[in-house]
Amino acid sequence: MIHKNLKKFPEGFFWGASTSAYQVEGANLEDGKGPSCQDVKEVPEGTSDLTICADHYHHYAEDIALMAEMGFKSYRFSIAWTRILPKGIGEVNPKGIEFYNNVINECLKYNITPIVTMFHFDMPAALDEMGSWSNPDSIDWFVNFARVMFENFGDRVKYWLTINEQNVLTLSGKVIGTLHLPENCDNELREIYQQCLHQLVAQAKAMVLCHEIVEGGKIGPAPNIALVYPASCKPKDILAAQNMNAIRNWLYLDMAVYGKFNNLVWSYLEENDATPTYQEGWQEALDNAHPDFIGFNYYSTMTVEWDNGEEDIVKGGDQQSSRGEKGVYRGFKNPNLPTTQFGWEIDPDGFRSTIREMYSRYHLPLLVTENGLGAYDKLEEDGSVHDPYRIEYLQEHIKQIQLAITDGCEMLGYNPWSAIDLISTHEGMRKRYGFIYVDREDFEIGSLKRYRKDSFYWYKKVIASNGDDLSND
Ligand code: BG6
Repeated sequence: MIHKNLKKFPEGFFWGASTSAYQVEGANLEDGKGPSCQDVKEVPEGTSDLTICADHYHHYAEDIALMAEMGFKSYRFSIAWTRILPKGIGEVNPKGIEFYNNVINECLKYNITPIVTMFHFDMPAALDEMGSWSNPDSIDWFVNFARVMFENFGDRVKYWLTINEQNVLTLSGKVIGTLHLPENCDNELREIYQQCLHQLVAQAKAMVLCHEIVEGGKIGPAPNIALVYPASCKPKDILAAQNMNAIRNWLYLDMAVYGKFNNLVWSYLEENDATPTYQEGWQEALDNAHPDFIGFNYYSTMTVEWDNGEEDIVKGGDQQSSRGEKGVYRGFKNPNLPTTQFGWEIDPDGFRSTIREMYSRYHLPLLVTENGLGAYDKLEEDGSVHDPYRIEYLQEHIKQIQLAITDGCEMLGYNPWSAIDLISTHEGMRKRYGFIYVDREDFEIGSLKRYRKDSFYWYKKVIASNGDDLSND
């Protein structure tokens, strides 16, 4: 649809950006924080560990002041479970509560609305030793953590996100260092989907608890949603795209919104003898939970073709790659899309179609919790960082949000990845996303000084005009 008259971004639109605790904070074992799975994992060769990151733990006031200078209306960050509960359960660490109180209060000082992710890839290592998400007790562990957060921060934090990219935990857990498989596991797929069910039930219970404890609290999931295209108009490619859409996207939102397991995914699991087992009360918990909005991360679409099930498919790939599943779908390189320096496809139009599809399926307000471009940025001698490629990427995606708003989709905000440079999930510090440059490399820690990139000044103008002025002059 070509619109002649574009609708405006709504008043109160949450312009901001995102980070996650384990990628930005550093101070990973300081002030009583316990280790998470990210602290004990082996990092990919050639990339930094997660001990210092952007040292946001010590620079949070300066960082939030810079966000305020850009005019942020919201800041999406995650709370490290092990800073609050060093062993995941048991004693609360007062220093952890103090740190997040400081972060929240600093945001509120500048009228920045805190949007808190409760879990972003960082299971406490102590709970990993007890089986991590494979243990059905993980549901209670998470709900207990949720209660501690709601009771301590719920007077000031009104926007909550449950589990970041639960679908990525399921589909790419090995790559991002989160998958824990019990020693006696004889059916990996069944194990992974059993863990997935535990996460979904934990999320459902946390949503109900939020509504009970947090006055005026709003809560939603935050999966990574990427509409999956068929490689052609061959009917079988359409079926393949439906398969992957169900497995990658709809399972998570169908469960969060309707409490129902997607039938295509269920039949795929049946085929592999991998259906998860429900315990008493779990379906009821899923039925009782009602998100107020859908948070979602979008980087690009995916494309797949039919797979006849005859040849093996090499497994693996990260958040944005779609290698395939034998007899279900096969990943296809979309020839119409450019890629980033790190090989991720760039598809702004696909952002709009993803939004449209989600809104028409679920009819809930949508909050963009991530979107962005990872690139090698260069700090110039005069302290400037010229990142026109990032500005262009963001410009094109923001245009699509406005088109989606004009299409009638209800959009709450835009919080791209990332507010400030931080460590990538598996590609180190060199893959930068921030509006703010942090002076450090993968192995040379540098001064950790902050520098405003060109995109910083550009985004400031975008926010000041409430999205009317996207130009880069
Ligand atoms: C999302 C995650 O998958 O994408 C973030 O929620 C992550 O944690 C971001 O950093 C970008 O991915 P990457 O792999 O480039 O860091």
